[in-house]
Amino acid sequence: MLHFTKLADIANPQQLLQQALEIKQYPFEKPDLGKNKTLGLVFFNSSLRTRLSSQRAAQNLGLHTIVMNVSADAWQLEFEDGTVMNAGKAEHIREAAPVMAQYCDILGIRAFAGLSDREADYREEILTAFQQFSGVPVISLESATRHPLQSLADWVTIETNKKTERPKVVLTWAPHPRALPQAVGNSFAEWMQVADVDLTITHPPGYELDEVFSAGATIEYDPYKAYAGADFVYAKNWSSFQSYGQVLSQDARWMVDAEKMALTNEAFFMHCLPVRRNVVVADAVIDSPKSLVIEQAGNRTVSAQAVMQAILTH
Ligand code: CP
Repeated sequence: MLHFTKLADIANPQQLLQQALEIKQYPFEKPDLGKNKTLGLVFFNSSLRTRLSSQRAAQNLGLHTIVMNVSADAWQLEFEDGTVMNAGKAEHIREAAPVMAQYCDILGIRAFAGLSDREADYREEILTAFQQFSGVPVISLESATRHPLQSLADWVTIETNKKTERPKVVLTWAPHPRALPQAVGNSFAEWMQVADVDLTITHPPGYELDEVFSAGATIEYDPYKAYAGADFVYAKNWSSFQSYGQVLSQDARWMVDAEKMALTNEAFFMHCLPVRRNVVVADAVIDSPKSLVIEQAGNRTVSAQAVMQAILTH
C-alpha cells in the first residue's frame, strides 16, 4: 500500500483486517519497524481520537511523530494553480507539501469538507494535492468524503463482537444542530461493502448518500423497520448530499433511544465520537453495556497501526 485514503487503495482489505486483528492482540511485535522514520500529522480541523491514536500507533512501531495544526500554526495555504498570491494566503501547496516531506517520511492529513461546493469537496482537492506534490505516502485522517481509519476500526469492532456469521448492521442518520460532512457515513458504507454483513441504511428522505458509497445496501426510510432484528446500530449525522450541505431535518424521533433499540436483536450501539448526548443518542443507550463506543475509539490505534505497518513494509 502506498497511500491510504479510500478502500480502493487496499489490494486486499480482508488481509488488512486480519493484520489489524493481530495487532489488537499483539500491539508490540514490531517496535523497530519505523525506526529513524517520521510521521507528520497535519490537521486542518479539530481532533481528539485521530490525533492521539495515530501518535500511539506510531509509537508502537518506533515511528517519530510531528503534529501540526495547519489552520492555527502555519502560513495560510493556497491550493489554486495560477493564482496571483497578493491576498491573505502566503504559501502555495506546491512548496508546502514537498517541504513537509523533507521532514516526514509519511504524511497524515485531516481536511474536512467545506460543504458549500459539492464538486470541489468530492474532488478531494486538499488530500489529492498532498498526494500529488509531497512525494511521500499519504494517510487520510478524515478527508472531505471519507474517514477510512475510522471505518477500519469500525470493521475490527464488528468482527470482534459479532454473534452471528453475517450480522445485520444498521447505519442510521441521527439529528444534529450543525451541518456535518458525509465522510463517516460514506466511508462506513463503503467498507461494509467488503465486510461479511447485511447493511441497511436508514435516514429521512433527502439524506441519501452518494450511490458510490451506498451501493449494495438496503435503504429503509422507516427507522422502526430498519432497526428490526439488527445486530449493530451505527449512528451518525450527515448533511444532505443532494441539497448539498443543508440540514433538512432535526427531527428528534431519529435519535437512537431505548424504544428503537428494543426492536433489535439486542444490538450493539456504535458511534465514531464525538457524540452529542440526548441529541444523537439517549444516555440510556450510550451508557448501556451494549455500547461499543469506547472500544471503537480504542480500535482507532489498531487501524492506524495496521495502516502504518502496511505502508512501512510496502
Ligand atoms: N472519530 C474521530 O475521528 O474522532 P476525532 O475527530 O476526535 O479525531
